[in-house]
Amino acid sequence: HFGQSQKPPVRVAITGAAGQIGYSLIFRVASGEMLGPDQPVILHLIDLPFAMAALNGVVMEIQDCAFPLVQGIVATDNQAVGFKDVNYALLVGAKPRGPGMERGDLLKENGKIFTETGKFINDNASRDIKVVVVGNPCNTNCLILANQIKDIPKENFTAMTRLDHNRAQYQLADKLGVHTSDIRKIAIFGNHSPTMVPYIDQMTAKNHKATVDQQWVTQTFIPTVQQRGAEIIKARKLSSAASAGNAAMNHITTWVNGTVEGDYTSMAIPSDGSYGVPKGLIFSFPVTVKNGKYSVVQGLPISPFYQGLLDKTIKELVDERNAIDHLLK
Ligand code: NAD
Ligand code: LMR
Repeated sequence: HFGQSQKPPVRVAITGAAGQIGYSLIFRVASGEMLGPDQPVILHLIDLPFAMAALNGVVMEIQDCAFPLVQGIVATDNQAVGFKDVNYALLVGAKPRGPGMERGDLLKENGKIFTETGKFINDNASRDIKVVVVGNPCNTNCLILANQIKDIPKENFTAMTRLDHNRAQYQLADKLGVHTSDIRKIAIFGNHSPTMVPYIDQMTAKNHKATVDQQWVTQTFIPTVQQRGAEIIKARKLSSAASAGNAAMNHITTWVNGTVEGDYTSMAIPSDGSYGVPKGLIFSFPVTVKNGKYSVVQGLPISPFYQGLLDKTIKELVDERNAIDHLLK
């Protein structure tokens, strides 16, 4: 008895489920927007002990939506239970940066969280689990997590730069006077941080090669995309939530259903050395996806301008890795 659908349910874990991204994300996953209107889901909602009362309120609201696709809800602060047999995990829960905290402090705090979560996923999740890390600093958190994994393929562990990709797409569509869906062949390289590299040298608009003037690219477009997260925090006094949840869903949907012919997307994945990026770093690349497998788009021309930007974001990720090196032993 799978409700209105005959497909067996899949288990979707969301950490930080009582937080603000969780609040926009969970209901859309429950409605079928991420995995399709014929795919029943069992929601695994994970948060810290202090957040269980709030999480219980979220559970009541899910119940009150009477979603046809929801076959069960597991709400817990116990990660062994939370990740049991899970097929998809959206790792949103992380400690946000507090006043006076350096990036290194944040890395250390979240390093502990992602070390622990890696062990629980390794010991409990389905062997086909697909993971996207959203909690910041998401690339290096994913590196720490994946290091704990012994018998699940490393390529199943990714971090989210789809929000940056979507942000870039909007800025370009607005500039060119076309719809966002008309913009193709753009990508984010590197870290989800202000060093990220929005790459647009192969961009098409309505299937034709499209160019924008270089001064706008360097002085407006790239800084706008790089600083968009900070701009939202300034405006909302809270970090982006609905758009971050939306991008996390997009990331998984594309990973499952594939990219459109003639286009690519951005995912932060374990580097295989492409574009001179040190192997193993969790680095955002342009990727195509087919049959649930992603591949890096090879051979994109990298101008000296873009190479300079790539070098900076590579250096930042190497520095982050060095800062948490003791957690990788
Ligand atoms: P929030 O503070 O509203 O919610 C975070 C939730 O995570 C809280 O309920 C907290 O209790 C929980 N949590 C913390 N540690 C946990 C753990 N070990 N296990 C389970 N739950 C835990 O924050 P938010 O606005 O929802 O943002 C969450 C994270 O996403 C932040 O790190 C934020 O910086 C990041 N973020 C990333 C992107 C991106 O593009 N990659 C975009 C926006 C936000
Ligand atoms: C975002 O890109 O919106 C977030 O990562 C915000 C941030 O910088 O914490």
